[in-house]
Amino acid sequence: MAIYNEFKDKVALVTGGAGGIGKATVRKFGVNGCKIFICDINDEVVNKTIDEFKKEGIDIDGVSVDIACEESVKSMVDACLKKYGKIDYLVAAAGIYKDRKLTEMSFEEWKQTIDINLNGVFLVTHLVLPQMLERKQGSIIVFGSQAGIRGSALHTHYAATKSAMQGFARSLIYEVAASGVRINCVAPGVIRTPMTMNGSAEKLEKWLETIPMRRFGEPEEVANVIAFLLSDDASYIVGQTIPINGGSVVNT
Ligand SMILES: NC(=O)c1ccc[n+]([C@@H]2O[C@H](COP(=O)([O-])OP(=O)(O)OC[C@H]3O[C@@H](n4cnc5c(N)ncnc54)[C@H](O)[C@@H]3O)[C@@H](O)[C@H]2O)c1
Repeated sequence: MAIYNEFKDKVALVTGGAGGIGKATVRKFGVNGCKIFICDINDEVVNKTIDEFKKEGIDIDGVSVDIACEESVKSMVDACLKKYGKIDYLVAAAGIYKDRKLTEMSFEEWKQTIDINLNGVFLVTHLVLPQMLERKQGSIIVFGSQAGIRGSALHTHYAATKSAMQGFARSLIYEVAASGVRINCVAPGVIRTPMTMNGSAEKLEKWLETIPMRRFGEPEEVANVIAFLLSDDASYIVGQTIPINGGSVVNT
């Protein structure tokens, strides 16, 4: 396992920090001495996650947020800055994934996915970036998906937001990279988290057949790539989308 000495005393803000990939990322950064601020949808999951990591000796705090609500995101970012004084790393993991045919999708359902997966990333990045630009350092990860690269049945709304993350990352670099702030996008395949593993056995079996490695990814395998991309080892990588998928999509 790689050790990242530069994470010590840095501050990482992880949205969706109580979720599968969010928690794996918290642990990866926490064991490397990073201070962590998490946010997630309600106090119960946030407090449970904080308690769990405090027991592991990780310096962590957090609040509940609705990532789609401007006011809520502002008070969350303010709380993080008040607690730790800066944000070095942003991991924008909060997201939802719902099955629905386009013809059966209400406009409300469409908008909910766009609000959380796309507008939520705008809101948090918009508020975190100014202090990164001012300090001329910072690194951001947004989440694409295999669904955004090759499409996914029943997920026009989800896939649209995930393709958008690739465009977001590769466009924002023109505004921030020269100032020393980096952004990249990770595009996981099927990872074993609450988001995917509550599907039927039949659905999971079908997914497995499409993966050359014949297994699902572990959240830690995504967290490892996030750590590398945020670290100084990735100092010349910006605007890229990195697939993490056991080979299910190659040559993107
Ligand atoms: N698991 C996979 O196979 C997979 C594949 C591709 C991309 N991704 C992406 O990775 C990211 C993390 O997903 P995960 O697998 O850890 O899922 P997860 O469901 O375990 O975690 C997502 C977290 O986001 C939180 N969240 C949802 N709506 C929110 C809101 N309005 N405000 C604040 N928090 C909210 C949830 O409570 C949850 O804890 C997501 O952006 C997802 O789209 C996951």
